[in-house]
Amino acid sequence: MEILCLYDTKQEGLKQQFILALYRELAKHDMRIQATHSLSDAIDILEENPKIMAFLFDWDHFDLNLLTKVAELTDNLPVFAFTNRHSTLDINLAELQLNMDFLQYDQGLVVDDTARIMQAITKYHQSLLPPFTKALMHYVKEGKYTFCTPGHLGGSAFQVSTPGALFYDFLGSNIFNADISISIAELGSLLDHSGPHREAEEFTAEIFGAERTLFVTNGTSTANKIVGMYATKDGDTILVDRNCHKSITHFMMMNNVKPVYLKPTRNAYGILGGIPLKEFERVLSTLKTIPSYAVITNSTYDGLFYNIQEIGQLLTKIPVLHFDSAWVPYTAFHPIYRGKFGLSLTPKAKQTIFETQSTHKLLAAFSQASMIHAKGHFDDEVLNENYMMHTSTSPFYPMVASCEISAAMMQGKRGQRLMTKTLERAYQFRQEVKRLKNAAKDWYYDAWQPPKLDEIACWELKPHDIWHGFQQQEANHLFLDPLKITLLLPGLKNCSLESKGIPANIVSQYLDQHGIIVEKTGPYSMLFLFSIGITQAKAMRLLTILNHFKQDFDRNLLVKEMLPDLYAAHPEFYEKMHIQELAQNMHELMVKHDLPNLMYRAFDVLPEIAITPHGANQELLKFNTQKIRIQDMMNRISAVMILPYPPGIPLIMPGEKVTEASKDVLDYLILLQDIGRAFPGFEADIHGLTRDKEGFLLAKVIQD
Ligand SMILES: Cc1ncc(COP(=O)(O)O)c(C=O)c1O
Repeated sequence: MEILCLYDTKQEGLKQQFILALYRELAKHDMRIQATHSLSDAIDILEENPKIMAFLFDWDHFDLNLLTKVAELTDNLPVFAFTNRHSTLDINLAELQLNMDFLQYDQGLVVDDTARIMQAITKYHQSLLPPFTKALMHYVKEGKYTFCTPGHLGGSAFQVSTPGALFYDFLGSNIFNADISISIAELGSLLDHSGPHREAEEFTAEIFGAERTLFVTNGTSTANKIVGMYATKDGDTILVDRNCHKSITHFMMMNNVKPVYLKPTRNAYGILGGIPLKEFERVLSTLKTIPSYAVITNSTYDGLFYNIQEIGQLLTKIPVLHFDSAWVPYTAFHPIYRGKFGLSLTPKAKQTIFETQSTHKLLAAFSQASMIHAKGHFDDEVLNENYMMHTSTSPFYPMVASCEISAAMMQGKRGQRLMTKTLERAYQFRQEVKRLKNAAKDWYYDAWQPPKLDEIACWELKPHDIWHGFQQQEANHLFLDPLKITLLLPGLKNCSLESKGIPANIVSQYLDQHGIIVEKTGPYSMLFLFSIGITQAKAMRLLTILNHFKQDFDRNLLVKEMLPDLYAAHPEFYEKMHIQELAQNMHELMVKHDLPNLMYRAFDVLPEIAITPHGANQELLKFNTQKIRIQDMMNRISAVMILPYPPGIPLIMPGEKVTEASKDVLDYLILLQDIGRAFPGFEADIHGLTRDKEGFLLAKVIQD
């Protein structure tokens, strides 16, 4: 832990002696002192270093601006001023919200003063820690012997053998000490929502603006199933965003519901648009019964938010509205997202609003940490039955604590500060890409965004703008999140393929080779997510590697030099190939198949529903299926969901069949197959299909 000290380090005399003695005493408590005589450095350190646990400064150098900044940048940080018996209090100080105390250096009470600083730090810690985490840390500190699960018993079982000991040392002791049994009564229960677990849920609900929050320890994949299964019964008609995550399909395979799909748009880059207003209206006008439930992905994978009031108005009669917000757990913490997320809706009488969020995706939490937030009219007991159905009776407590801590990190002005910094970083990155693009003599990456950005905001996709590439875009309907940065590559302009191009998966492989993982790669686009963990250094590194790619590409290096892993896996194929040849050949294959338009059409038609997802799954369980090449899939009913990555959205649902009217769906899958067969190492990842030895894709269909 660190203490920041601002004083003139060169001065001599009583004050200097006192400060040096204080340093020595604080060191005995494992405190590291950072000393500076610069006001601006002190402010920078307070802004950038979250490990600062107290701030000491020289009252003789008192500056109201400094303290105003300290009050702005910190929440309750202990602040101590070095004074003497002649010092006077500045009246303006009273207006600041500061946790302020004084150290009188001419009194010589160093030991007492150190004790006071340490007490203030301990109190500060306690005020920062949320209830469950505090109770968990307290329990771990007590170091009790347990004779219950988990069998590693605070990690000791790992240490009885060498592989276990290596693993233990790798992770460190606390993770094992904090992984404890559900039988520890003082920590309450996640499944009964009691004790510190309940307090953690209430603490978190308040921060996120929900009436009820449940922690889900198996991802939003599970959170979605819990909500879907709570909200629907066998036979219900439900409204489903066709761009839903596969977990929604999975719940439809369990509850025998009748989905009616809302079809979103997509542009030539393969970027997912939202569901147009007209589509909502069209579908609603065809329904004979009011659906019991509607699920909408907000934001979309590519970062588009809806005008949520408008959606609320359209779906006003539907009892349960579920917004799958897996990708945007941060919307409650910055004003630019106001009116764009589910929880900002006021439910109608007897209506429930659910928002599910992957806390782990874009806040700080362990993988699989997720939350269900609810507002409005719901039955807590029935919801909990469904929650328990999907929750292990042995939850991982560090994950629960990570959910709660991620809420604590976003509490009050702390959250907005973090979000502001993250948004500024993303905005700067976008501006820098645009600057380089404008300065480039030949090709450069472009950022998918309005051509002129005046301020950080969620930027509207306006009807007549061409940058977004969506046809017939409606006004005031969709908005781009600044944190989801899509970079575009040459090859595609105004929805048509050009004669030359650089397919994005080549750049993604290059970035991967340099330790940078792209979130999603489309044919000519790459998506990067800027989250609160992205530092300036990381953003600069990304730009540097993108520039290296451009230099290496322009020098037309050999594939084996630029993509050594790809070469190592397929040395014969890539032995003499240069990078420009690889890019151009792949691009020409895309031109031959008119990929952007094919992809557009493939997602613009829906295959025919032959049986419900539940019915198809029953056939699968009866082994009433066979495997065929995708070329032969016409008019055959798929037993499983077929889901190409990217974009990771179901193309064919279980129980659907491709007919002549939806032939583009098959053609698109065949193109993905052809690319994989033509360029080893570039096989598309398609869930629901397998590949035979010759690289042909195989589908599981229901037997005729
Ligand atoms: C829209 C959407 N919902 C839910 C999920 C599942 O989230 P998790 O990985 O937390 O299970 C994802 C995962 O990518 C997603 O994209």
